[in-house]
Amino acid sequence: MAKQEDVFKTIVSHAKEYGFVFQSSEIYDGLSAVYDYGQMGVELKNNIKRYWWEAMTMLNDNIVGIDSAIFMHPTIWKASGHVDAFNDPLIDNRDSKKRYRADVLIEDEMGKMEEKINKEVAKAAKRFGESFDEAMFRQTNPRVLDIQAKIDQLRDRFAKAMSENDLEDLKQIIIDHEIVCPISGTRNWTDVRQFNLMFKTEMGSTADGAMDVYLRPETAQGIFVNYLNVQKTGRMRIPFGIAQIGKAFRNEIVARQFIFRMREFEQMEMQFFVRPGEELKYFDFWKETRMKWHKALGMGDEKYRYHDHEKLAHYANAATDIEFKMPFGFKEVEGIHSRTNFDLGQHEKFSGKKIQYFDPELNESYTPYVIETSIGVDRMFLTVMCSCYEEQALENGDSRVVLHFPAALAPVKCAVLPLLKKDGLPEKAREIQHKLRFDFTCQYDEKDSIGKRYRRQDAIGTPYCITIDHQTLEDNTVTLRHRDSMEQERVDVDTLAQRLGQEVSLNNLLRKLL
Ligand code: GAP
Repeated sequence: MAKQEDVFKTIVSHAKEYGFVFQSSEIYDGLSAVYDYGQMGVELKNNIKRYWWEAMTMLNDNIVGIDSAIFMHPTIWKASGHVDAFNDPLIDNRDSKKRYRADVLIEDEMGKMEEKINKEVAKAAKRFGESFDEAMFRQTNPRVLDIQAKIDQLRDRFAKAMSENDLEDLKQIIIDHEIVCPISGTRNWTDVRQFNLMFKTEMGSTADGAMDVYLRPETAQGIFVNYLNVQKTGRMRIPFGIAQIGKAFRNEIVARQFIFRMREFEQMEMQFFVRPGEELKYFDFWKETRMKWHKALGMGDEKYRYHDHEKLAHYANAATDIEFKMPFGFKEVEGIHSRTNFDLGQHEKFSGKKIQYFDPELNESYTPYVIETSIGVDRMFLTVMCSCYEEQALENGDSRVVLHFPAALAPVKCAVLPLLKKDGLPEKAREIQHKLRFDFTCQYDEKDSIGKRYRRQDAIGTPYCITIDHQTLEDNTVTLRHRDSMEQERVDVDTLAQRLGQEVSLNNLLRKLL
């Protein structure tokens, strides 16, 4: 079986080869951790965003959307805590001159220790065969227990150092655990320093000089500072939500794993404003609702799990991640956070404006509490690519690469293919394509053998191929080929649009959510 890293590399090169994702500025040797979406990628990305946007704003009477500017008043970032606390702890290796995030080095170390346990489990499973009881083994095997105790100890010390911002102890953990630089292999480390992740630039020019502004590191603050505008103009009553999709920017130091961690990325965030005291009820509600949204895609329920945060940010009273099984392990795709009234309270304080809600039922005013759901579009894109990619051996000894995209997300919904480039077949195929293209993204292809054309469509995840042959000219039927099963059926041209509509419509997906 191919190693998971190799599988991931193959997916990354497939994404480039078929026009999904390109390295930014590639002809200038690229810009690290910045990517461009190609002709297929942009369609898939737009479909993901539509699925999220419609699930939020169309299926909920009490959620509306906004689109706030990327540039915002710099005091917003002071109020939100990003100027003072949106930092990563960095450490340099003096020999390789490479810079690392100290927390990532330590997390990787824990990952290696967990890997040792997994190896012990795998060895024992092989030895004991069918009678192997994994849970029992993990609870009783002395070597596993010993490693687990070391992991627990390290995790506690690490969490304490992070929450207390104890940079000296972070360095000491690296030294105590003999963590080496992956490049130089040495332990010649500098001290750990804090590094702010926000990009800063200048706006305008005044007599006193230009104003420093930041590229927003999250879209959420654009929602918080528009809370009053939307509540008043939309006559919104609590509980209600504001949704937004937009770019966010972070000067990530350890940018890796392709589009998993980028410097410019896109977020889909929703802030749900509730009465104080009701936030945990809505936290549970959104935790469940968001998981349902992911699982409705049908990519495999076993690939998702929650990771509840034990250590919470000072302003949060509950937080969980929805993690997805990537080829490099379970990783966060979405965060659901109960952020209390921290952000609105801070903006009230820093702006001097009253940001309160008068609750007619309670006959009192209060600062609303907030549940946030925050998902990265690019990470979601990566989960879809990773989970849908398959290299399939076929019965005839042939093989194919197929992307089993959920039909509603597929960049191209159908391909119209004349069997031959003559006998009036191309003309008939064009006629069919011109009808379908009002409702579906539709490709026309007449080059190469039909087999090659099917493979090309499989490789970009097109759910349906429509083949026009001589029989089409006689009885107005075509062959409809299904991507996943490769089965073919004869279908009347006049029923095609309705048939495809049923199969690829986003509505079907949205209906699963209610
Ligand atoms: N407003 C809350 C917030 O921004 P976060 O956990 O920092 O929370 C939310 O980010 C989501 O944004 C993550 O779950 C992830 O999907 C995405 N994200 C964060 N940083 C990212 C990066 N550097 N590259 C790609 N996606 C990122």
